Amino acid sequence: MDKPFLTDIKTLRKRARQHIERGAVTPGYRADAKKVIEILNEALATEIVCVLRYKRHYFMAQGIHSQAVAAEFLEHANEEQGHADQIAARIIQLQGTPNMNPEGLTSRSHSEYKEAGTLVDMIKENLIAERIAIESYSEMARYFGEKDPTTRRMIEGILAMEEEHAEDLASLLATLDPSKG
Ligand SMILES: [Fe+2]
Ligand SMILES: [Fe+2]
Repeated sequence: MDKPFLTDIKTLRKRARQHIERGAVTPGYRADAKKVIEILNEALATEIVCVLRYKRHYFMAQGIHSQAVAAEFLEHANEEQGHADQIAARIIQLQGTPNMNPEGLTSRSHSEYKEAGTLVDMIKENLIAERIAIESYSEMARYFGEKDPTTRRMIEGILAMEEEHAEDLASLLATLDPSKG
């Protein structure tokens, strides 16, 4: 007899009935939910710090080249807010609580809140923050692997956008600061 690849229907139905208060987290969930929530809360803090930094830069951007750059900062700020919302929603699905407490925000965040003085420095700081996010989301995606494919796919989607952000900023930098081109 071939060993069946899937759990039989009867067992599946029985398992789904257990602990229904846990919502989307079924007995088949293979990751450590507590650890996943902890990691996602760090990602949430990172996104919130990125929103604040991009917003600050959006309002502070000045000079003749600044209109296009400011528009880019605003677009990124809104997209980082979207990431924060996605992550918070996933934390809820995993029966956790999203940590939005401003206290300790900068130490939970992977990226930094750097104000920067000039337009070029703002772009550089944002590019550095994006590169930090790219590294940490890549690590997270590898960690979630097959244990939590839903969280992994969400993180991979966000990662792809951070890569676009980094590319946008690198292009802007090349236009404004030819030495970096
Ligand atoms: Fe983001
Ligand atoms: Fe980003």
